Amino acid sequence: MKIIHKKAELKALIKKQTGSIGLVPTMGALHAGHKSLIDKAVSENDFVVVSVFVNPVQFAPNEDYDKYPRTLDKDAILVQNSGADVIFAPAPDEMYTDIYFKEKETTLVCAPYKYVNRLCGKSRPGHFDGVCTVVSKLFNLVHPNKAYFGEKDAQQLFIIKKMVEELDFDIEIVPCPIVRENDGLAISSRNSYLSEYDRKIAVNISLALKKAKELYASGIKDSQVLIDTVFSYLKEFDVDYIQIVSKEDFCPIIKADKPPVMLIAAKTPENHVRLIDNMEL
Ligand code: PAF
Repeated sequence: MKIIHKKAELKALIKKQTGSIGLVPTMGALHAGHKSLIDKAVSENDFVVVSVFVNPVQFAPNEDYDKYPRTLDKDAILVQNSGADVIFAPAPDEMYTDIYFKEKETTLVCAPYKYVNRLCGKSRPGHFDGVCTVVSKLFNLVHPNKAYFGEKDAQQLFIIKKMVEELDFDIEIVPCPIVRENDGLAISSRNSYLSEYDRKIAVNISLALKKAKELYASGIKDSQVLIDTVFSYLKEFDVDYIQIVSKEDFCPIIKADKPPVMLIAAKTPENHVRLIDNMEL
């Protein structure tokens, strides 16, 4: 397994490949969720690149860009043990030109307003443009046949699938299921910010989703009733959103006849860690 920091070196290596290429884009601080993506990529491709890059363009000034965990040495062990071929870990100034660092501007790939004006896009303006931009750059550098994304970031996955379709990228997007701790908490790099108490009650998010799934199976299809039930599990959290959307267009629905997706984003009471989770009902 090779760690590459420069685009030119990565491009030269990619040029030599004759088999299928898999890409797993990450921001590092790799955990069991990322490992499941890497394992799948390794099982389905001849050559696998894992990118490790905390992308400044997808963070707003008030967000956790500076303190986002950076653990490249540990990440390298996980990637090596999973059998992937390359970690691409560029420095920010390898990915973006001077104008970004001087004026906070770069050429952006912007997702349609309809996809980004709600859920995480509403509380994180510009976030998905930053994601689409860096993912497009990685696609152009790696030319993968398949790229792997977790279902935990459900809106991100939806937007990337749309981007691939609408910008004619010839890449298969492979969704990978959420990996959970034993008690049900969705695994995330940001879980490392949780205080002991936050961690104890963080499980309520997945318990609430499970309850909504049970109620939906028992015949309750009214979104507001399901949302109110979930809200009662999250009284101690600062809830950003609880929404039920259709799988097809990610738009909110009032009465869910076809199994929809329920999504939650909420900040924990002590360390204000913004956790997201979702479940198909
Ligand atoms: O999901 C993430 O970790 C990031 O948003 C991604 C897709 C690696 C782009 O920076």
